[in-house]
Amino acid sequence: MEAILTQGLTKKFGAFVAVDNVSFSVSAGEVFGFLGPNGAGKTTTIRMLCGILPPTAGQALVGGVDVMKEPQKIRGNIGYMSQRFSLYTDLTVAENLTLYAGIYGIPENAVKRRLKEVMELSALVGKEDALVVDLPTGWRQRLALGCAVLHEPEVLFLDEPTSGVDPAARQAFWELIYQLSSQGTAVLVTTHYMEEAEQCNRIGMIFAGRLVAMNTPTLLKERIPGKVYEVEAGDTIRASEIMRQLPGIAEVSPFGRRLHVLTETDTTTRTKLRQALTKAGITVSSLEQVAPSLEDVFIYVAQETANENNKKHR
Ligand SMILES: Nc1ncnc2c1ncn2[C@@H]1O[C@H](COP(=O)(O)OP(=O)(O)O)[C@@H](O)[C@H]1O
Ligand SMILES: [Mg+2]
Repeated sequence: MEAILTQGLTKKFGAFVAVDNVSFSVSAGEVFGFLGPNGAGKTTTIRMLCGILPPTAGQALVGGVDVMKEPQKIRGNIGYMSQRFSLYTDLTVAENLTLYAGIYGIPENAVKRRLKEVMELSALVGKEDALVVDLPTGWRQRLALGCAVLHEPEVLFLDEPTSGVDPAARQAFWELIYQLSSQGTAVLVTTHYMEEAEQCNRIGMIFAGRLVAMNTPTLLKERIPGKVYEVEAGDTIRASEIMRQLPGIAEVSPFGRRLHVLTETDTTTRTKLRQALTKAGITVSSLEQVAPSLEDVFIYVAQETANENNKKHR
């Protein structure tokens, strides 16, 4: 049985379609990432799967329970860390955990054991009496995760759990995610960070409510039909304009201080790119073929989706 299974899941707010016919599944022990720009429909999807928001159409089973028919029953089976995770900042670490243990109805004789386990899991041992307001963001996030898994849910929803924390804290948080998934928890996580998406077993890319690509990071990269060149040039803006006008170029996008050039086929060579730039008087300090990154795929898929929409509306 899949931990999460959706079929044509749809949410409309009035005439606006926030989640459009989304079908996917997540199995036990899998870390599935939702990658998409702001407003793509990630949070709305999660809220439907948590039984908080009724879908307009389609079906969703979470832990085998239908979110439409038995939303109450879902809640005991899931952990949910919302975008603005809800800790009580004027309470201590231990008080927050105790409070959530009560909310989740953890039996009296199990509370002590679970509190201890969760303190260890979230690396907060020794901080029991610290006020949440005094904790750095990274620690709060670990505590919020701890609260969300107190009742040992089968399915865990993490909505941008690491936004606003430094890379080291993010990495520590991901180690927690792996620990939980290795114990069989199914994890659905949303993120903006490409290096986090890289760490998911599978990724769903979501644009304007539609799931437009879904696969492992490795296989997603194979979607790019041509090559990716990384270019470091004197005048980035002009270099970008010039390369974009060459035949066989799918996309040119900024990549840090450099540019990434996605070609449609294998015929656009390094030499051709370099010649075009040099001819326009642009200094090229480096021009190399690189392996596609997830960001390249994301940009490519976004472009592809925009083109399809334009065709439809013409
Ligand atoms: N309760 C609501 N009423 C009307 N529109 C909403 C509501 N909730 C979300 N939306 C809209 O639905 C779209 C998707 O939002 P959301 O799921 O929060 O996106 P994401 O989490 O990917 O940033 C946005 O355009 C948002 O404004
Ligand atoms: Mg969101």
